[in-house]
Amino acid sequence: MLIVAGSASSKLAERVAKQLKCELIKPELKLFPDGELYVRIPADVKGENVAIIQSTCYPPNQNYMELLLLLDAARDLGAEEITAIIPYFAYARQDNRFKEGEAVSLYTVAKLIESVGTKKVYTVDMHAHRVGDIQEIFKVPAQNLTAAPLLAKHFADNYQLEDPVIIGPDEESERWAKEAGDALGADWNHMVKERLGPKEVHIKPRKQLEVEGRDAMVIDDIISTGETMVEAIKILKTHGARKIYAACIHAVLAGDALEKVRKAGAEDIFATDTIEHEISKVSVAPIIADAIH
Ligand code: R5P
Repeated sequence: MLIVAGSASSKLAERVAKQLKCELIKPELKLFPDGELYVRIPADVKGENVAIIQSTCYPPNQNYMELLLLLDAARDLGAEEITAIIPYFAYARQDNRFKEGEAVSLYTVAKLIESVGTKKVYTVDMHAHRVGDIQEIFKVPAQNLTAAPLLAKHFADNYQLEDPVIIGPDEESERWAKEAGDALGADWNHMVKERLGPKEVHIKPRKQLEVEGRDAMVIDDIISTGETMVEAIKILKTHGARKIYAACIHAVLAGDALEKVRKAGAEDIFATDTIEHEISKVSVAPIIADAIH
């Protein structure tokens, strides 16, 4: 298998190639003055199984275009089987037509990915809460991997923890809190969130929060503006948590989100490398390597 590193996932692709002892191909990329993108795969991919790793984080449209050009180039060049690995999958939130006339963007990008000869799709903790199984979106085999146990392991391995507990900040984070808690053999719980606006949320405990004197890891799939994490930290503090750690799978971290979460009192903040960021301390390479091996 050959691993092709998209520009948004170059470090992760390197880690996956290293783990699988596969050749890593770094495509040539150029952005023309008018904004068009040029890509070239500088390798003979004829008859090979090719896996292209490219997150579609900011700027999503450009990163999708790069992914589509790479997938199609691999097909044109005669690759045997082409796998798209999209660790952070943009447009997943628009998984429905909420208002008449809207594009259902998640299904549009899925159709585009399939249209260029992709035979398998992998992603990590896709943020499409209304989709039960990712296979509903794709006709080709598709798998949604989860990184929550990796975050739990990082939490357990790197800090001197006092009676650890895992907390999800809202209902949607229940599954990550459960997966992380189960992986750690620790208690887990989740809170309830009401979104008052794009940058305003109200969070409250769902039931008794037993965090007094304990070290808590708040786990979410995404930290975007940071508001959810900040509010969750405030509540845990008022309930007497000892130290609070903020963890997420995808470090979207818009604007001053990181600073806000630090100021709110997070002892440490960590994420995976589905989006490459200074807080990407946990690699999803092992779960990707396992899945595509
Ligand atoms: C919401 O459904 C997500 O799981 C996250 O809680 C959300 O994206 C976090 O956003 P923010 O950091 O802007 O509060």
